Amino acid sequence: MSSQFLSPCFSYKKSNLYIENLSVNEVAETVKTPFYLYSAAQIKANIAHLQSALSDVLPDDHYTVCYACKALNNVAIMRLIGQQGCGADIVSSGELTRASQAGIAHDKIVFSGVGKSREEIAHALQAGIRQINVESGAELKLIESVAQEMAMAAPVVFRLNPDVKAGAHEKISTGQKENKFGLEAKAIKDLYRYAEDSSHLTPRGISLHIGSQLIDMSPFDTAYKIAADFVTELRSAGHSPDTIDLGGGIGIIYDQEDKPDLSTYAALVAKHIAPLGLHMIFEPGRMIVGDAGLLISKVMYIKETDHKSFLILDAGMNDLLRPALYDSFHPIIALQTTENEEHRLFDIVGPVCESADVFGKNISLPRNITANSYVAITGAGAYGATMSSNYNARDITAEVLVSDSRFDIIRRPINIEDQLSFENTPEYLISG
Ligand code: LLP
Repeated sequence: MSSQFLSPCFSYKKSNLYIENLSVNEVAETVKTPFYLYSAAQIKANIAHLQSALSDVLPDDHYTVCYACKALNNVAIMRLIGQQGCGADIVSSGELTRASQAGIAHDKIVFSGVGKSREEIAHALQAGIRQINVESGAELKLIESVAQEMAMAAPVVFRLNPDVKAGAHEKISTGQKENKFGLEAKAIKDLYRYAEDSSHLTPRGISLHIGSQLIDMSPFDTAYKIAADFVTELRSAGHSPDTIDLGGGIGIIYDQEDKPDLSTYAALVAKHIAPLGLHMIFEPGRMIVGDAGLLISKVMYIKETDHKSFLILDAGMNDLLRPALYDSFHPIIALQTTENEEHRLFDIVGPVCESADVFGKNISLPRNITANSYVAITGAGAYGATMSSNYNARDITAEVLVSDSRFDIIRRPINIEDQLSFENTPEYLISG
């Protein structure tokens, strides 16, 4: 049994789904479902794959891979990724704390995002991160004033909005004029000059990030050409950038997609960007962790109606929001199945009180699947755990990391007692 969406660290041995050298069923018998399950080997393989494609065309000391930890920011996972030589792309003070705790060198951290607060900027400058990616003139002024108070010069790069359409869904497209992200070239030119004249700012170059889950590499071709031309313009205006941050966005196979070709991507970088002689930063998120994670869930009920057979899982949209938010599809497979087993179609849903709490319609699963069997929702490593919530006062699920034949709980569930411990009922409501 093999499916193109299952990455090499997941496979069926006899009738059981394995993650590396461990039976997933064995983990499911021990850890309360639902839970996220990650393969350390697959994460390492994904990083190695990217590094090898880039190293084929770029000298190793000309680029840094800064993992976009919004995709999955568990500290154990970030430590594993840091150990492979990656830095981090962060979008909040919280992610900076996580990166520090994971032992990621601060000079390999870049800070993205349109709404950084004064406290977050101070935290980043205090930590001595590599650069802050600036998204507006107002933000630049705030960074300057914080740096002045700290008697230092803040390293900044300016995020270019190249007005290129990219991304699998309009909600994950970021590089067009109507998006809130980035600055127009003309605005950057003015701000670059301003930063150069300030003793509390050090302008270092430009960044861009056009969208997420790109399968076709041609939007990178367009955007990187625009970025390269813009660097040339900055140089003609007398500036000396030393950095270009090329963002993330490379997609993964969720279902039937073609495999994004990393050598095509690297060739585009070599063609447009490498000749500029700048230090290059890459911010991949999804492609590092996406196919390395499963959401493991138990079948609670099988509900037959005149129209449908529903499989009601114990995982819901609060655990994995992507299908409800982006209509994305994550194939669902049984942990135990035999080669020629008969299948039938189910609508697979969660227990949350929302009609959007649906993981898939008309999904083929073994005909004889029963309550208490386990299923795996695939491709759940990126933007799964990090986007989960406690909606319906449900637990925030556990996360488990597998390496070879061992597994470790890297986050226990955040349960109702944990949640209530943050709340307070004023005395007058109790006594009155
Ligand atoms: N750099 C910046 C500035 C970003 O905004 C992002 C993602 C990345 C890098 C990483 O992009 P990636 O390599 O993962 O495509 N929640 C959505 C994805 C949102 C992406 C936001 N920005 C989803 O589940 O599809």
